[in-house]
Amino acid sequence: MSEFLTIALTKGRLAYRTLELLEKVGITCQEMKDKQSRKLIFVNEELGVRFFLAKANDVPTYVEYGAADMGICGKDTILEEGRKLYEVLDLGFGRCRMCVCGPESARELLRHHELIRVATKYPAIAKDYFYNKKHQTVEIIKLNGSIELAPLVGLAEVIVDIVETGSTLRENGLEVLEEICPLSARVIINQVSMKRENQRITKLIRDLKEIYKEDMA
Ligand code: PRP
Repeated sequence: MSEFLTIALTKGRLAYRTLELLEKVGITCQEMKDKQSRKLIFVNEELGVRFFLAKANDVPTYVEYGAADMGICGKDTILEEGRKLYEVLDLGFGRCRMCVCGPESARELLRHHELIRVATKYPAIAKDYFYNKKHQTVEIIKLNGSIELAPLVGLAEVIVDIVETGSTLRENGLEVLEEICPLSARVIINQVSMKRENQRITKLIRDLKEIYKEDMA
């Protein structure tokens, strides 16, 4: 591992909030704010910090293998990927829920433990929920986006997906049928880095916690 502390950030929705937060604890990366830029890795020599942007699902992978010492990603990704790492802090933003959704008519199918089809971008979370928590056998169909389409065109009876404002569901005549778990942005740490870079990482976590407390106050 290099002398730089390497932080993997999630591209898209979470990136901006994450940078804002890091800025509050004195870790700045001006270059990264340029939305037009196609650059993937950014260095702050002065602070000895390196950032890179990765696809959400890949952030836990970079952290498990030590390519990043630290990562910031959604709890959904952490649950889905099941990587070996430490989850050390809930940052409180990016709040949403993982839910089973569908048309009202699917409620009965869930209640009677019918053998239904479940479309999702999160097959591991869906499997854990239906098999281990509900003890219900279902057929899980992996999709890559616009999951709400599946029940509308008859691909699946229900979906397992993220609900934030609920407007995608409402606009498509679907609703939350069951809630699986709450989600938000989390800080994850590589297990070896936690020992090797303990001082720097502990200080950073402490600073982030302070900011979180201030923001909540
Ligand atoms: C996510 C999620 C829902 C939507 C929920 O999709 O999969 O479709 O946001 O948000 P809402 O409750 O505020 O409407 P995303 O925009 O990430 O795109 P996707 O279709 O690629 O999953």
